[in-house]
Amino acid sequence: MDKDLEKRIREAMLNPQNMGELANADSIGTVGNSDCGEMLRMWVKFKDDNGRKVIDKATFQSFGCETAIAVASLATELIRGKTAEEALALKTEELAGELGPLPPMKIHCAQLVEGALRSALDPNNEEPKPAAPKTAAPAAHSTNLAESLKPKEGVKIVFLDKKP
Ligand code: FES
Repeated sequence: MDKDLEKRIREAMLNPQNMGELANADSIGTVGNSDCGEMLRMWVKFKDDNGRKVIDKATFQSFGCETAIAVASLATELIRGKTAEEALALKTEELAGELGPLPPMKIHCAQLVEGALRSALDPNNEEPKPAAPKTAAPAAHSTNLAESLKPKEGVKIVFLDKKP
């Protein structure tokens, strides 16, 4: 990987945006790549903007490499204010934003982010929505992706590298 890209990834990693579970998200997408073992989950919350249903916030958790985390950080910022259709129209390289072109060996890292986004925005997504907190006490959110990915009934993980 070239030094400039490494530097941009390192800079994105110094202040990653939108990491963590999003309480009361409207949809969730989880994808995995069994070749490299990385997984990424994305939460999306919508809002009404003058009659348009737009993405209010998107967050992520990752068992991913630095590139996947950097792309997820940039992508979750990029899609804010877009409709689901507009977000889905973004190409993989656009999600990587200011990181610029990724080398071939790192393109699948951005595809992991793209896959999680597509899964979250899939109208047929059957992954259960997060439950709203029942009390005023702090929500019992999982603290990390490993915990949140423990097998639960109904969780759907899409493996990007496996054909259906
Ligand atoms: Fe597999 Fe980056 S090395 S997601």
